[in-house]
Amino acid sequence: MSSRTTTPAERAAELRRLIEYHNYRYYVLDDPELSDEAFDALFDELCALEEEHPELVTPDSPTQRVGAPPAEGFRKVEHLSPMGSLEKVTSPEALAKWAEDVRKRLGTDEPIAYVVEPKIDGSAVSLVYERGVFVRGATRGDGFRGEDVTANLRTLETVPLRMLLPEGEEPPDVLDVRGEVYFPLEGFARFNEAQVAAGRKPAPNPRNAAAGSLRQLDPSVTASRPLAIFVYGVGLRPPGFPGTHFEGLAWLRERGFRTNPHVERFESIEAVAEACQEWETRRAELDYEIDGVVVKVDSYDQQDRLGSLHERPRFARAYKWAPSTAVTRLRKIHVRVGRTGVLNPLAELEPVQVGGVTVSSATLHNEEDIQRKDIREGDLVIVQRAGDVIPQVVGPAGEHEPGTVPWRMPERCPVCGTPVVKPEGEVMHRCPNRACPSRGLETLQHWVGPAMDIEGVGGETVKKLWDEGLVRSLPDLYRLTQAELEALEGFAEVSAARAIESIRRSKEQPFERVLFGLNIPSVGWVLARNLARHFGSVDALMGATLEELEEVEGIGPERAELVAEWFADPENRALVEELRELGLRLALDASESPTEGGPLAGRQYVITGTLEGWTRDEAKAALEALGAKVVGSVSRKTTAVIVGENPGAKAQKAVELGVPTLSEADFRALLEGD
Ligand code: IVH
Repeated sequence: MSSRTTTPAERAAELRRLIEYHNYRYYVLDDPELSDEAFDALFDELCALEEEHPELVTPDSPTQRVGAPPAEGFRKVEHLSPMGSLEKVTSPEALAKWAEDVRKRLGTDEPIAYVVEPKIDGSAVSLVYERGVFVRGATRGDGFRGEDVTANLRTLETVPLRMLLPEGEEPPDVLDVRGEVYFPLEGFARFNEAQVAAGRKPAPNPRNAAAGSLRQLDPSVTASRPLAIFVYGVGLRPPGFPGTHFEGLAWLRERGFRTNPHVERFESIEAVAEACQEWETRRAELDYEIDGVVVKVDSYDQQDRLGSLHERPRFARAYKWAPSTAVTRLRKIHVRVGRTGVLNPLAELEPVQVGGVTVSSATLHNEEDIQRKDIREGDLVIVQRAGDVIPQVVGPAGEHEPGTVPWRMPERCPVCGTPVVKPEGEVMHRCPNRACPSRGLETLQHWVGPAMDIEGVGGETVKKLWDEGLVRSLPDLYRLTQAELEALEGFAEVSAARAIESIRRSKEQPFERVLFGLNIPSVGWVLARNLARHFGSVDALMGATLEELEEVEGIGPERAELVAEWFADPENRALVEELRELGLRLALDASESPTEGGPLAGRQYVITGTLEGWTRDEAKAALEALGAKVVGSVSRKTTAVIVGENPGAKAQKAVELGVPTLSEADFRALLEGD
């Protein structure tokens, strides 16, 4: 269209369409076609045109997102259909029970598909569109009546002011879209910083911040907050709406609404349960908070037949994880001396339930961290637990208790009384006494646990053996007799015989484990493995120069020095000799390859479901032995997903991402090098 023949009204309409479309590409599809500058130019042109021709301004113009404050409060509005709520389940068992009930109500032979989607932790809203134009937005309120926050919702770029309609499609007379307005985490952090800087109270969480921002009387305040929306359904389905929830979401997305990209469809409740559990850790990848996942029966026909009870649909459940933070009292801060002499502060807590387990102690990192957070003995503190990690004390849960004082690291080792040191540039304090009994005990505990994995002999047993004076060094462990063990509390003839047998069998553990167990400063699991593979034997390692050590992957000059120093110490050399005499492996076995890499080097695999011929650990070890990596989640980088019996969400994800899947037979062929 040439500008000479285009009227201002036509151009304004065209600009509005273009702006809405590019807004959609940017906010909904996350796939912009225009640069920010080009987009701004369109917007500026529309503003100028509307300024020149005020009669052309329409309420759905993108220039009208920020309107005037309402004269008084928010009007109450009745929802076109109630906004219900969700009943929750908190375990895979409860989820299965729900699925069973669904199955009973629907009849036994029907296939049932489920949709799993993040439960956004924000503020629920209804967006009403008449003939495709956004006319009213309301909060949930009591589910029947909410507050009219249209002016505020209009300020969200992710709320379309007009539906995008496919060529030739008539807009529905009325469409009531339901969704959740949320405060993205990054914006939330900045918002709270600004609140504090301005002397105002920070918001306790993003949900409160979202709800508060929606209820601002002045829409320009709402506009200044980075709120966004994900829509997750409609009130009443308009004519022509698809037959399943999954397709319904696609329908909404095609018409300009922002739906969540992580919606997945499953055909078995086991796969649903696996996805729900995976979200407990996956949630950390999101830039918004979720307070669970929502599981919905996919078919609308089935949803309708299941119906609702007290505005809670029988066709859906909110799957929630046990809370992962809790508040409890910090009784005392203990200091534990680690196996390399590092002093680790440890919190003794009044026992509290966190994420489904009772927690009575938690890590506290180091003195600097404790002082920065100002965590004090006697305070109420916030304890956090994420997945399987050790619980942590996040910080005080409010004001300090009267009489508490800032915490300081003791000046002497709590075990041997030697003055502690804190080397330049390090955050950890250390006990410099190499003969500190605590270090010996920790070394033994590390040996029987992570290093040699001796079944039936745990940290507690080692502690008792230590206290009785029966075992004070690694070689002592191999000289322990069955009679000595039997005499120990908690052991009987059979358990003692078993433990002695496991100790004997641990002599067959590979060289890299022995090396890891020796407790050489800075030699963790990975470095122990690299050293073992590089040098092949303890003799070669002991004879290595600093330069030779530095050739090993993962070693810099400092670590090389620590390793060389350790092997130069006559006491340590004597220990190595003693272990050699006792029959421990101090060189690679013929079957172990001394070289790095392997035929599958650089490849990444994911395993899902149960394999018949291998346990997970065996399958993982077999792949790793060939140089491959085994990872927990599927991405485009994944080489292939190995799919066993009853696979979970990962198999589906592979298909979605076009990642190849391997059956157990394919897997066997892969290992055999076919
Ligand atoms: S479906 C009948 N899907 O959770 C209600 N709700 O208790 C059906 N929510 O306040 C709701 N994310 O706003 C659904 N993906 C999602 C959701 C979601 C968050 C909120 C919803 C409501 C609460 C339900």
